[in-house]
Amino acid sequence: MSGWGSGYVTDITYMTGYYRQQSPSVMALACLLGGVASPLPGPDHPVSYLELGCGQGLGALVLAASNPHWTVTAIDFNPAHVAAARAWAAQAGVTNVTFLEADLSTLAEDPAAALVPEADFVSMHGVWSWVPSVVQDGIVRLLRAKVKPGGAVHLSYNALPAWGPALGMQRVLRDCGKRLGSRSDRQAEEGLKLVQALRAAEALQIVRAPWVNALVERMGGMPVQYLAHEYINDAWAPCFHADVSEALAGAKLDWVGSVNLIENFADLTLSPEQREVQQRFDDPILRELVKDVCLERSLRHDVFVRGARRMNPAMRDAALMDVWLALNIAPEDMPYEADMPAGRAALNRSFYGPITEAMAAGPQRVGDLLALPDLEGKRDNPAELIGIMVGLDLAEPAARPGAAPIPAATRFNRVTNANLSRTENLGRPIAAASYALGTGAPCSLFDLYVIERVQAGEDEGSVDNWVRALGNNLDDEGRGKLRDVFAKVLRVRLPILRAQGVY
Ligand SMILES: C[S@@+](CC[C@H](N)C(=O)[O-])C[C@H]1O[C@@H](n2cnc3c(N)ncnc32)[C@H](O)[C@@H]1O
Repeated sequence: MSGWGSGYVTDITYMTGYYRQQSPSVMALACLLGGVASPLPGPDHPVSYLELGCGQGLGALVLAASNPHWTVTAIDFNPAHVAAARAWAAQAGVTNVTFLEADLSTLAEDPAAALVPEADFVSMHGVWSWVPSVVQDGIVRLLRAKVKPGGAVHLSYNALPAWGPALGMQRVLRDCGKRLGSRSDRQAEEGLKLVQALRAAEALQIVRAPWVNALVERMGGMPVQYLAHEYINDAWAPCFHADVSEALAGAKLDWVGSVNLIENFADLTLSPEQREVQQRFDDPILRELVKDVCLERSLRHDVFVRGARRMNPAMRDAALMDVWLALNIAPEDMPYEADMPAGRAALNRSFYGPITEAMAAGPQRVGDLLALPDLEGKRDNPAELIGIMVGLDLAEPAARPGAAPIPAATRFNRVTNANLSRTENLGRPIAAASYALGTGAPCSLFDLYVIERVQAGEDEGSVDNWVRALGNNLDDEGRGKLRDVFAKVLRVRLPILRAQGVY
């Protein structure tokens, strides 16, 4: 680890990733569900978006390429991250994003802060509970200076008490790993081996809590870059929601809700008995404490607003009725049962069936979906429809429904495919830029590859060529599987991505 990182991993880069919780439209929906007026970006709104700790910048790039009239600013202190992100933007010709190399502990007081515009939306994913308090304090000062009145801030962090049973596991992984390796990735590998050996030896503090036990098992399949940036930092410290909320109050930010939309519905999150205890309090911070004691969920995705303007239910529902949704799945893949934190829930087939059928034709307005003639169920609950469809990743909000793809987004998707397919698993979930959605369209590199070939005039008759191009080192079975993947992309995924305006 270098001397300039205040104990944060700086000797290896972080992996690229897209997280929809960072998208302004999802943040805005979380605000609306929480009954707070939200700056839901209109189609031509000149949004200013700021990302702190942006890593290699995929999230900022997808949002910039999807919204050419937005101003996107993304900051990281690791020059390797900033160099990679700038190169990606230059190659793809994305001109409305600026990547700044700056340390968040001092940026607020640095002349370079003048380069950071005031923001309507800010996002920090994977930063807060991994950096020392001096960086957290600097973040709060920067937010105080840069969040516009009414602006929204997304912040993810490792949550207490869920992480409590894993504190020993992380400490062994980090402290013992550091003795056994020099670079952070080696330290993570060595630390993981030790933790796995302790699990095999039935160390009580690892096997006693089922989720720690299961986590250690899963960690064997996780990328080492992820493990290093998650576990090796000196300041790694999960937080209570109340403490994070108190810290952000220093930037006049009020906690509003969760960007994991399902968590905003008490009946989907807690059992009736747990809700009874929770509802003894009207303080939302205490309610969250009760919730966090009931749930196993270890990563919180909170949204805060600078100056929360409460809406009455009628105003809120009117705003929710005007949201447009684009389907992420084929209608035949609609699940009519889903695992919620409170248990398995049935989704009414005669309600969600007609809704997903209607959405297969393209994005739909929530108010129009709830007015469909053959619907059985509640027509006056746009919050629940949005919570289920977006909260379960079945749909994305659409900012410009029906808009044709724009060259900037198409070019970005091609460059992303070219860059990532050299290093990444082609099935890994990422997102494509879409002007119609104004946010990332969930997809894989297989999807982007096929889109590119189809745009070059090829069709299902070329599948064997694609298999030869991408699977030349596979055996017969592997090539057969790859052929099936391409067939599914052509049959199922392409119509979805076309309806989402990706190509
Ligand atoms: C776990 S990574 C998350 C990256 C990205 N947000 C993502 O989710 O893919 C945390 C990021 O915060 C950056 N970071 C850590 N300390 C920082 C500081 N003091 N100032 C600026 N960036 C910092 C790291 O370089 C790293 O890119």
